[in-house]
Amino acid sequence: MDELIFKAARQLSQSKYAIALTGAGMSTESGIPDFRGPNGVWTKNPDAERQAYQSYYKFQQDPKAYWIERMTGLSWLKDFSSARPNPGHLALVALEKTGILKCVVTQNIDNLHQKAGSQRVLDYHGNLFLLRCYHCDARFDPSEYDLPELLARDELPPCCKKCNGVLKSDVVHFNEAIPPDVAQASLEEVERCDLMLICGTSATVYPFAMLPRMAAEKKDKRKMTIIEINAEPTPLTREGISDYFIEGKTGVILPRIAGEVKK
Ligand code: APR
Repeated sequence: MDELIFKAARQLSQSKYAIALTGAGMSTESGIPDFRGPNGVWTKNPDAERQAYQSYYKFQQDPKAYWIERMTGLSWLKDFSSARPNPGHLALVALEKTGILKCVVTQNIDNLHQKAGSQRVLDYHGNLFLLRCYHCDARFDPSEYDLPELLARDELPPCCKKCNGVLKSDVVHFNEAIPPDVAQASLEEVERCDLMLICGTSATVYPFAMLPRMAAEKKDKRKMTIIEINAEPTPLTREGISDYFIEGKTGVILPRIAGEVKK
């Protein structure tokens, strides 16, 4: 393990454009359960996953009912506002501050990378603390709307201040397209990077899981290092997409790597 920590620190220090791809495993040490790990939300409650697969369809069929469900607490989307960043998030901030880490592309909707201080974060699956217009993709802070008042006055769903379209959560639901701006920006980051840290993800959900595979294709053309940090091996490990796999907690391993880089 130690030699892999030192190797990762050395390769990060020598990289020209390192990015991190993160998943729910980054946030379990902040008290937010992941989905497919031993205590994952889907692992423990498969029905919750089936319900989540219905969210987007429900929104399209009846935006008002979607909003009432979200606001009356029946939604699987819980309020993570009390969660705090953990040492894994802070280690990525430290790597960004050294100028080594250029971007975090996260599947997490919990806003913990931003709360930790990461400046360049792409919320690939959206952000629980934002609303997005279904028609023009404009994003709004929920504080711009008095949602409880709209609920009380039976005036849901909230409408876009730009195009008057219906708003939904910025969270990307199953079967919903990745917002074009984030999808494009993520592809550009993958194209630019020469080192990819993949932290705390089972790498089983597409199209996000395509990003490491696209990076691996660049290996033939030029130097490209893919380092996986996860509690358990994933398809990326088994398929040899990652150059090496550091087993363990992101909240422990990332600070050790960042500490070695600083030396
Ligand atoms: N440190 C390292 N790895 C961890 C930790 C930790 N502290 N905690 C959990 N893990 C690992 C788990 O073993 C698992 O392999 O992180 C991985 C998390 O995988 P998932 O639960 O599948 O989460 P993720 O990959 O982010 O899921 C992708 O699926 O449900 C959708 O939209 C949702 O964004 C999510 C997407």
